[in-house]
Amino acid sequence: MPYVLDPTRGLSTTTPSHTAASTSGQTSSILLKRNVPPAEPWRRHISPDAATPTVFTFFEKATSTWQYIVVDPHTSDAVVIDPVLDYDASSGSITTQTADGLLSFIEHERLTVRRILETHAHADHLTAAQYLKQQLGQHIPVCIGQRITQVQKTFAPKYGFDDPSVFDNTFDCFFKDDEEFKLGQLCCRVMHLPGHTPDHVGYLIGKAVFTGDSIFNPDVGSARADFPGGNAEDLYASMQRLLSLPTAYRLFVGHDYPQDRDQTCWSTVEEQRERNKHLKLGTDAETFIKWRKERDAVLGAPKLLHPSLQVNIRAGKLPPKDAQGRVFFKIPITSEVDV
Ligand SMILES: [Fe+2]
Repeated sequence: MPYVLDPTRGLSTTTPSHTAASTSGQTSSILLKRNVPPAEPWRRHISPDAATPTVFTFFEKATSTWQYIVVDPHTSDAVVIDPVLDYDASSGSITTQTADGLLSFIEHERLTVRRILETHAHADHLTAAQYLKQQLGQHIPVCIGQRITQVQKTFAPKYGFDDPSVFDNTFDCFFKDDEEFKLGQLCCRVMHLPGHTPDHVGYLIGKAVFTGDSIFNPDVGSARADFPGGNAEDLYASMQRLLSLPTAYRLFVGHDYPQDRDQTCWSTVEEQRERNKHLKLGTDAETFIKWRKERDAVLGAPKLLHPSLQVNIRAGKLPPKDAQGRVFFKIPITSEVDV
């Protein structure tokens, strides 16, 4: 069977099975249960061989985030990668429409989620990891790279997380570099890919890598590297590591910001080597690092920086409630005046 991919790349897509089954009693029961229909995958990347996962891709438009459900076709065991919790900054409301769509999809497809994977502590959207865990079962671990503890230490004082116990019962699994784990019959490997953030990891599953923000699609290039603990030197090395993978491997990105095309979620290593606008074959470290630093120097902070970090360094848990049961986000202020 060919690897079935998106039509913008000249290949065909499958018809989502839940569309075909939309009049069945099963789908109706899902709708009644969650009152949210299964999220419509942007594409289904059907496994072509025994060593490669089936990948369902979901684009969250408000934050331009790719969410992934990756499935072992032999067992229907699945992982969810970088799920999004909806947050409206102007009203302060947090909702679960996006995550509920994923849950309904998981239920409809009869998938068994084994892990929830985070690529890093995102600074531009809130993770739905904790909500998914709550809904799917408390035994399902929320996993991230081991250097999340470094990020927690950096940001805890900024947000008044003074008691270390604030991080108890948040993440369940702290991956070591190159740690391997099984997804059904598939082998997965954790790749430490620092630069964008120090904790950043990618997940190599079969011939696919879920890169988070360690590389973007070729015409978008690379992510900023100016967050605490991030740096352009590490990002260069991480991107080079991805470019050194076999040319046919697919790199699934964490975001997409297309200028003059539809959003897309992957490219091959070969395409990245040839066309990445910031770092392709032959781009030397000095050139990339100088450009990345100059670019980052003029970027503003992400709009959801503070809410994101307060939630994401706690694996998707909201800030602790105060004595009255209220929940607030804190915004550290730097002021030119002391009034
Ligand atoms: Fe990020």
